[in-house]
Amino acid sequence: MIIGSDPILLTPGPLTTTLETKQAMLRDWGSWDASFNAITGTICRDLVEIVRGAATHVCVPLQGSGTFSVEAALGNLVPRNGKVLVPQNGAYCQRIVKILKILGRSHVAIDMPEHQHPTGEMIDAALRADPAITHVAQVHCETGAGMLNPLPAIADACARHGKGLIVDAMSSFGAIDIDVSKYPIDAVIAASGKCIEGVPGMGFVIARRAALEASQGNSHSLAMDLHDQWTYMQRTTQWRFTPPTHVVVAFRKALDQFLAEGGTAARGARYAANCRALRSGMEAIGLRPYLPDSVQAPIIVTFHGPADARYAFKDFYARVRDRGYILYPGKLTQIETFRVGCIGAIDANELRNAVSAIDAVLKDMGVRDRQPLAAAA
Ligand SMILES: Cc1ncc(COP(=O)(O)O)c(C=O)c1O
Repeated sequence: MIIGSDPILLTPGPLTTTLETKQAMLRDWGSWDASFNAITGTICRDLVEIVRGAATHVCVPLQGSGTFSVEAALGNLVPRNGKVLVPQNGAYCQRIVKILKILGRSHVAIDMPEHQHPTGEMIDAALRADPAITHVAQVHCETGAGMLNPLPAIADACARHGKGLIVDAMSSFGAIDIDVSKYPIDAVIAASGKCIEGVPGMGFVIARRAALEASQGNSHSLAMDLHDQWTYMQRTTQWRFTPPTHVVVAFRKALDQFLAEGGTAARGARYAANCRALRSGMEAIGLRPYLPDSVQAPIIVTFHGPADARYAFKDFYARVRDRGYILYPGKLTQIETFRVGCIGAIDANELRNAVSAIDAVLKDMGVRDRQPLAAAA
């Protein structure tokens, strides 16, 4: 993979893209032009097929970062008198709760620590206890800690109770299988700059067609009205408002490479190999992952910051950056952590090199005690 001399982004998007994907942005496109609109059409078709939804689902692309699409999906697919259950084990679940608050949609959360995940039984119990709940909003990979939430068990519980399921699959789509033909999923939400390895700038909602059709008038917002965006696109083939043209064509190129690699199974396998190389390499240099392997998604790994007083994330980050790798700060509230992404146009060798760079930096900083603070105390 040729990536020039740019640092490698070990972050959960934006991420390192291939030269081919970057080069796709060297052309300007008219947003009314039929050739550009045809590209949007093929992207939507391919995205729906990735989750095996051709018979039941449609894809609505939306300008903006991933959160715009999460907010649009909730604002459109949950009626104003609906009620949403949010199993909550991290920062992106909390963001869903915040969105629902701002939208004025009734909701209830099942609060869990960041190292635990919801179970089908928990969802069953919550749905039994409160029949007013109409939807469950589930983050698939909780990128905050890197946890893989058990989507099939949650989807089964929703099916048993006849509730709609809205899945924030931002950091899992294209890497971990999601099958909307098996489960009653109303929406799968993701974005261009994640596991399909495009650049950031557009999100998309793969919505059950019947649910989207029934959503007319629900939206709180003009710009985020998915029903309007979809019907306009159906009628004209165009985006309603100015599309992020360069992002769209780069996303098409990224999708071509995703399909050539072998789709979700192959991409997920590459990321899983990256994740294994990262976790084992970091453990070998004395750094401890926050989550056990059994619940770790192969997307991003949270590590405890070392207990040594000479460790400070800002200095550590800058030194690792100087060696060519961009890390990510931790997102846990209670303990000192940092995160390293496994996704993007990188392979396990790159992760091994990153571990060597991290080891060298910690040596330079004089960090000898690499155990977590709590364990050292
Ligand atoms: C699970 C999840 N949901 C939502 C988002 C928000 O996406 P954005 O930062 O693109 O708005 C992210 C970002 O990484 C994410 O991982």
